[in-house]
Amino acid sequence: MNTPSASDGIPTRIGIVGSGLMGRGIAQIAAQAGLTVHLFDKQPGAAAEARSAIAGTLSRLADKGKLAPAARDAAVSQLQVAETLASLTGCEVVVEAIVEDLEAKRSLFRQLEEVVADTCILATNTSSLSVTAIASTCRLPGRVAGFHFFSPVPLMKVVEVIDSVLGEAQVGDTLAHLARHLGHRPVRTRDTPGFVVNHAGRGYLTEALRVLGEGIAEPADIDRILRGAGFRMGPFELFDMIGLDVSHPVMESIYEQYYQEPRYRPSPITRQRLAAGLLGRKSGRGFYRYADGKVMPEPQPTPPQPGSMPIWVSGRDPALSERVHGLLRAGGAQLDEQPRPGSGSACIVLPVGQDATAAALAEGLDPRRCVALDPIFLDGPPTLMRTPVTTPAARDAVWGALARGAAQPVLIHDSPGCVAQRVLAMIVNIGCDMAQQRIATPDDIDGAVTLGLGYPQGPLALGDRLGATTVLHILDALHDFYRDPRYRPSPWLIRRARLGVSLLTPEA
Ligand SMILES: NC(=O)c1ccc[n+]([C@@H]2O[C@H](COP(=O)([O-])OP(=O)(O)OC[C@H]3O[C@@H](n4cnc5c(N)ncnc54)[C@H](O)[C@@H]3O)[C@@H](O)[C@H]2O)c1
Repeated sequence: MNTPSASDGIPTRIGIVGSGLMGRGIAQIAAQAGLTVHLFDKQPGAAAEARSAIAGTLSRLADKGKLAPAARDAAVSQLQVAETLASLTGCEVVVEAIVEDLEAKRSLFRQLEEVVADTCILATNTSSLSVTAIASTCRLPGRVAGFHFFSPVPLMKVVEVIDSVLGEAQVGDTLAHLARHLGHRPVRTRDTPGFVVNHAGRGYLTEALRVLGEGIAEPADIDRILRGAGFRMGPFELFDMIGLDVSHPVMESIYEQYYQEPRYRPSPITRQRLAAGLLGRKSGRGFYRYADGKVMPEPQPTPPQPGSMPIWVSGRDPALSERVHGLLRAGGAQLDEQPRPGSGSACIVLPVGQDATAAALAEGLDPRRCVALDPIFLDGPPTLMRTPVTTPAARDAVWGALARGAAQPVLIHDSPGCVAQRVLAMIVNIGCDMAQQRIATPDDIDGAVTLGLGYPQGPLALGDRLGATTVLHILDALHDFYRDPRYRPSPWLIRRARLGVSLLTPEA
């Protein structure tokens, strides 16, 4: 244990108010980092119970060999139950993790100001309230900041340090310093709705709902495609895990707090399902069904036999068409390798940003014989898209051949940007706009998203991997198609794509 001393500039004595899920987690890591922790809860006995629970957790870690017994004993000895708020008098920092209610938090901070020294920092773990609004009724609003941890606190190694409009910079500096001492990455964030992590998460969830709402694909198909694009969990698996009682209000709240910004527009699908009680795992049924806490398997469509139709592949990008030829050959397909398709061939188009219909017409092909394959995400299950008039024979020829030569394809209806292209473009665009609004630095946005949301990369690095011009092209195509400002590209993206520089490039 690396006990802080006053000379490090790291607080040595911390108060935690609210000993529920979050307060316990924060108390545990603070005690393990050598701080003296005073734990208070308004519910009689709750803080003592939390102390026992933390001691139990630390003992289990010691039993598994993940913590030295001496470190466990030292951490437990740092935990003190505060019987009254007045016991927090000597704390240098107090973190509140009480009920998510503005008036309750304001009232608590005003009471704390009667107890602690004027130099004591008052930090809130709020996930959705304005830190500025909490600070505004304090006698010394400059000492109030957000300190937003994620659950489970000991494992989620990131914390948003939120500077309120009324905040003093050194308050955030001290909290950032403390966060590092606790083993967490501090992400310095402006006081904006959803801060970084909950704001950045809008792209994945709301665009997946758009795709579902438009009848493009079913939840399990969307999940498979996005897992194939590198996400640990598909968006609908995630909805089921979080519970719609939590996720739907967050979507509504961020949308409303941003004055109905179309990029964050929620969906009536989740509102209705919430009203129906289809919350997810916790209620036994969400987008999936659960029995004994385990997801029940979804029936998988059986791929058809490929048939005898030759398959022609668009040659617009020769390297790409060669790659698709390879997949088709592996499936034993008969290829039509002429520059233009023969009259009896099924055709594969490879659209970026366009739908299958537009891609077929742009190449002067017969849309009845066309199937589109998402060319960007060929490493996962191939996404196949038909036009509204694609014949079953052409569809089955391509589907059957790819099912033999690659991972089981996912067959969807027509969509500009397929599924993964448009969802990822939304994630990148929202990340770019957060950088544009200076909500956090580009590095911090990416760091917070990888640690807080578990994405394979942060939105800006993801945009660099896809290519800023490609992302811009996908968004422009979506914007033209839907004429919906939801898809308008962020100035941050437009400029960096034009300049040919990384999306992580900060302003000079
Ligand atoms: N649960 C999460 O995943 C999560 C993640 C990040 C942030 N948060 C935020 O952290 C805060 C706490 O959330 P939680 O999930 O730990 O809640 P919780 O319900 O598990 O715990 C809240 C605790 O606060 C106590 N309490 C309520 N009002 C109090 C008061 N005025 N004074 C003292 N104690 C009081 C309650 O008795 C309870 O023990 C909320 O602001 C929440 O939005 C939660």
